[in-house]
Amino acid sequence: MKITLSVNGEEHPLDVEPRRLLSDVLRHDLGFYGVHLGCEHGVCGACTVLLDGRSARSCLMLAAMAQGHRVTTVEGLGTPANPHPVQRAFGEEHGLQCGFCTPGFVLTVSELAGSSSELTDDELREELAGNVCRCTGYVNILRAARRAEHLLAEEAPHE
Ligand code: FES
Ligand code: FES
Repeated sequence: MKITLSVNGEEHPLDVEPRRLLSDVLRHDLGFYGVHLGCEHGVCGACTVLLDGRSARSCLMLAAMAQGHRVTTVEGLGTPANPHPVQRAFGEEHGLQCGFCTPGFVLTVSELAGSSSELTDDELREELAGNVCRCTGYVNILRAARRAEHLLAEEAPHE
């Protein structure tokens, strides 16, 4: 079937089988390698993307279901030369080791941006509980999420 996916602000016309998953199409057909595939059944969060600004697991969606929505992958947030504040925060607080889970965490934290400062540490942990990391022990990820609030507040336009 012919569909058009809007990914990171660009329209991508595609011819896909109706059974194809959004995660596979993003990664294998469109080359967004920041979409990582871990469990492929909705548990690990590695495949997280933003769909109209809300985090979603791309391994639980058909590509065709994303038509008409704005999809954002980690590549749409920042570049190595100009990283998004959430990406900078993860670097500064050492919130990653192997990096496999990192795109999912970065996108989830960027969704929370603006509201996470109102969350207690326990509530923030709960918000991030849908993303699994096998390396860091989570302490630095939590710090990175807090650091991200800080950097985003600094960069927000002041009136
Ligand atoms: S690969 Fe999608 S949740 Fe694990
Ligand atoms: S940094 Fe390795 S899985 Fe999270």
